[in-house]
Amino acid sequence: MHNMKLSAPAIIAKKGVEKITMLTAYDASFARLLESAQVDMLLVGDSLGMVVLGYDSTVPVTMDEMIHHAKAVRRGAPATMLVGDMPFLSYQVSKQAAIANAGRFFKEAGCDAVKLEGGREVCEAVRAIVDAGMPVMGHIGLTPQTAGKLGGFKVQGKDVQSARRLLKEARALEEAGVFSLVLECIPVGLAKLISEELGIPTIGIGAGICCDGQVLVTHDLLGLFEKFVPSFVKNYINLAPEIKKAVSSFVTEVKDETFPDEQHSFPLQIDPADIIS
Ligand code: KIV
Repeated sequence: MHNMKLSAPAIIAKKGVEKITMLTAYDASFARLLESAQVDMLLVGDSLGMVVLGYDSTVPVTMDEMIHHAKAVRRGAPATMLVGDMPFLSYQVSKQAAIANAGRFFKEAGCDAVKLEGGREVCEAVRAIVDAGMPVMGHIGLTPQTAGKLGGFKVQGKDVQSARRLLKEARALEEAGVFSLVLECIPVGLAKLISEELGIPTIGIGAGICCDGQVLVTHDLLGLFEKFVPSFVKNYINLAPEIKKAVSSFVTEVKDETFPDEQHSFPLQIDPADIIS
């Protein structure tokens, strides 16, 4: 348990000592709730695109959209380590663009770290951002921004060749300077092996129990996003049906004129005739 904002070195120090928790947040209200539950890190994930903005994938998400939501999360959770997820093509075009876009998360939104997807091909960008003074979290396995190249939303690293590639990528990213690494949708045994090989913590999503920490999309954990629920997600509560029930009660009560009742109204304490005259 902690009540001080964690830093990248503090996250690294948790490896082998205590499991790390990270959840996504996209607005101030949720950020406030998650901070009060003492989540170690909040991620303004580019899952924003699908969960909140209604896109079909994370690809269309822009830097401006990410910054807008990261600022709101920072306002709601001033005391939690905040990670900004770099959207598609914000770090691939050039090292300069990668540094400038990472810098926007820090300067405009008050983030404490950025995350980017990919293996060897992003190591140069990682190094450049870290050298500019900004902690970077890596993300390998199923990388949603390039899911098309991976053959869709599938478990990665199932055969020897791809498992070896993922281990190599994990080592290369650590070498490039990431302070932690998200492992998405890979077999438990491979996540265990990678976690044991690295000196930095691994944060799993669909990667089993052996990772050094776990991340979930908050809307999945709460059962708020019904469009698509990956099989590795655990619904700790199923809020979507509860919300629908509450909203239809509101609709019914307004239609049949039982809301607002006296308890939810302000009585007029002067004579209406005095208002008209
Ligand atoms: O965008 C996101 O929410 C993520 C997490 C699922 C790791 O990248």
